[in-house]
Amino acid sequence: MITSCPSSFLLIGAVALLRSVKKTKKTRKVFRVYMDGCFDLMHFGHANALRQARAIASLASAGGDVEGGAEKEFCVELIVGLVSDEEILRCKGPPVLPEQERVKCVRAVKWVDDVIANVPYELTKEFVRELFSEKYGIDCIVHGDDPCYLPDGTDAYAIPKALGKYREIKRTEGVSTTDLVARLLEYADASESTSSQAGDESSGGKRSEKNERHEARFCTTASRIAQFAAKVSYSKTSKMHEETEERKTDKNQRKNEKNEETTCCYVVGAFDVFNAGHVELLEECSFVADKVVCAVIADEYLTRDQTNQPPPMLNQSERAMSAIACRHCDDVVVGAPARLTDDICKTFNVTVVVFEDDDAVTERDRNVCEKNGVQILSVKERVFSRKKLTIAKRVQANRALFEERQKRKMASEKAYYEQKAFVAED
Ligand code: CTP
Repeated sequence: MITSCPSSFLLIGAVALLRSVKKTKKTRKVFRVYMDGCFDLMHFGHANALRQARAIASLASAGGDVEGGAEKEFCVELIVGLVSDEEILRCKGPPVLPEQERVKCVRAVKWVDDVIANVPYELTKEFVRELFSEKYGIDCIVHGDDPCYLPDGTDAYAIPKALGKYREIKRTEGVSTTDLVARLLEYADASESTSSQAGDESSGGKRSEKNERHEARFCTTASRIAQFAAKVSYSKTSKMHEETEERKTDKNQRKNEKNEETTCCYVVGAFDVFNAGHVELLEECSFVADKVVCAVIADEYLTRDQTNQPPPMLNQSERAMSAIACRHCDDVVVGAPARLTDDICKTFNVTVVVFEDDDAVTERDRNVCEKNGVQILSVKERVFSRKKLTIAKRVQANRALFEERQKRKMASEKAYYEQKAFVAED
């Protein structure tokens, strides 16, 4: 069983890691960390795991053991192994989101350098050997401090642990795929229900008796927001380096051609249950402007009374965390007004405004835009839907299978919370 890891252990682990790098990887330019997982209904807990995995690599390279590492903290790469749909079904039960959507979400997280899709759930000897070989050049494997067992009850990370190539990060409390699945079921039911009571279960509020919940809540601290908002640099060999450089060049070219000033795209929406459709939207926005500001609408404007819809499943800080973790988003307003105002246009020097939901644009918004010379851009859904009801309906259609999976996961999460102790985190 993977037990919680006190801060001193993490420190000892980091020092050991530095030493092992010193012995064997002196000439290596980049330190590569591997984190695998299902990343189903990718949430800010997953994003925080990826952030910490990259931080482990930074710690190793910052010691100067990796060539150029002392000066260049960005001499690290985080490679994510995404477990295939078939493997998730075999080991955990049905995934909510198919691989294509999970890849889209994970690739969009700013700390990720590359994704290897279709990896096995089990870290077999052969696969671990392949990871540490020239092909992938991985230096260590990282997972959260929650237990991860194979269907036969054995530790999924036994092999990298035995090789001394395993590191642990602290799991983020208060959010999990299990919890989101339960909320999606409630949301799907509430959307069908004519009774307003059924939907009055916003984050932190009264919940349906049907689904058991853990007490743990995510606490949005100022330091966590700062960590999520920090810019990430990519090593020259990173796939993301290539992509960001290409984008910069395209933007500069366009600016020169049109003699444009710096442009700002202000995207207004709830961004509840951040998904592949949201990634697609923000990516599209990043093509049309130099800066993308994501305006995550405040909870107070999204009550059932105001929208005639069930309230968001996640509160405004939780919704904002997922948006900040997305590489296509430059800044986030945590708890934005639902409507555009003159003041907002001036504060952010908005040039283009996009609404997550096109139908949400009002006559008043149009007037504000006209007055401030702001263009309203409609970004249609292309490959992926950004409506959470689409996702909720998928869960609802497979209710029995998901409820079965929930029961199993709740039991293991309960065990985790019972043994949980304080663990220092980067
Ligand atoms: N993780 C985390 N905090 C969470 C959820 C997941 O740190 N709240 C970490 C896991 O420890 C793992 C990685 O994210 O290292 C990928 O997790 P995943 O395979 O998706 O599985 P779960 O742990 O089951 O994630 P969830 O509880 O959300 O289903």
